[in-house]
Amino acid sequence: MTTVQAECPATRDFLPWKDPQLRVDPYPFYARAQAEAPVSRDEDGTFVLTKFDDLMHYGRLPSVVIAPEWEKAGAWRVLKDMSLGHDEPDHTRLRRMTSKWLTPKRIQDWVKITAEVTDEILDRVGDDGLVDGSDLGVEATHVTVCRLLQVPEDDIESVRREMRKAMPVLSAVPDAGDFEACEEAHEYMRARTAFLIEHGRANPGDGLLNHLLALQDSGEMSEAEVFATTLFFYFVGHMDASYLISSGLQLFTRRPDIFDAFRAEPDVRQAIVTELVRFDAPEPVITRTTTEDLVIRGVHIPAGSVLRLVMGAANRDPDVFDNPHEFDFRRPPEQSRNLTFSFGSHSCQGRLLAEAEVRVVWERIAARYSRIELAGEPVIKNTDASRHYYSLPLRLCP
Ligand code: HEM
Repeated sequence: MTTVQAECPATRDFLPWKDPQLRVDPYPFYARAQAEAPVSRDEDGTFVLTKFDDLMHYGRLPSVVIAPEWEKAGAWRVLKDMSLGHDEPDHTRLRRMTSKWLTPKRIQDWVKITAEVTDEILDRVGDDGLVDGSDLGVEATHVTVCRLLQVPEDDIESVRREMRKAMPVLSAVPDAGDFEACEEAHEYMRARTAFLIEHGRANPGDGLLNHLLALQDSGEMSEAEVFATTLFFYFVGHMDASYLISSGLQLFTRRPDIFDAFRAEPDVRQAIVTELVRFDAPEPVITRTTTEDLVIRGVHIPAGSVLRLVMGAANRDPDVFDNPHEFDFRRPPEQSRNLTFSFGSHSCQGRLLAEAEVRVVWERIAARYSRIELAGEPVIKNTDASRHYYSLPLRLCP
């Protein structure tokens, strides 16, 4: 057993998580890891998997669980009380509590809000066409989630600031200061969530928050579960969709042909969104814990090991995708898959909403403008586990 483990390549030789190059453009690193070290072992004992089929197979085994990771997630431990933090049977129970808010029919209503907010932002754009794409994406998606929850929308800058402080700790190799920043952010996030719940109690309505509070009153959800679910939707609900909105807008500046296709061919719009989701996963990694021994590609993985599943790598696996590094929205359907929204029972409940938000924001822009240019250097801050635009200066041209 020890011998097999000794043969497992060292993650640091292929995926040096702190390397600034990897944080900007991880794809050459992922490609080498897939070719030479599809399963590797990190210094802390975590096993790292990068191949599409391995993630789909091993990531979905009932013996590969999620709860232990959230139990030890520092201040993010709060999420152990929502669906994301549970395995069966509680996972299904909790997931059901929010599912009717994210059906295709409801999403049509939510994206009307996204469209309205985008139009309001575009109405404020002057003759120079200058706008910050990141601000636009955050405002449109955050306000959408606020109206879905039916909570005040007046705190967007704090939400953004605190999430920037809270996310870096989820890296494979957080810096010492990341823990402190995350604690501080969560202090704010807990206080704000408590305020929103108090506000919801004082203002009965028919939004998601009041629905959750009714479930608490009827004993179907605990107070902690309502708290964690509210915190997640309010603080996290905008984050990755707004990243994709920006990433696509930046792509349109580099590849006007893709923006032209988006404008001229409504039939390819969804494919452009899906290809971006494959191409540039906002959160490229998820983690799990094994509860039974596994052997993956000859590597023995003992029960109790942490698995780091690199979805961003799997999305460009050459065994699944032809020309994986090419943005090709005309791929055949079997090549248009991606793991960005996770897979198996925890696959993102907001996927349809997020994709619809991205599409509708671009559509509102495309209805008024025919070209998008960069008007300054974008500021992007990534770790190995999450990608964020701080700003994206754009010029929208008629
Ligand atoms: C592009 C945008 C988004 C991306 C890339 C994304 C990604 C993910 C991923 C990777 C997971 C699973 C994590 C894991 O398996 O460990 C997840 C779960 C989840 N997401 Fe999203 N998400 C996005 C947008 C949203 C939105 C807009 C909402 C709701 C407003 C949402 C709600 C959820 C919920 C409730 C879960 C937990 C599902 C469960 O545990 O059963 N997500 N998301």
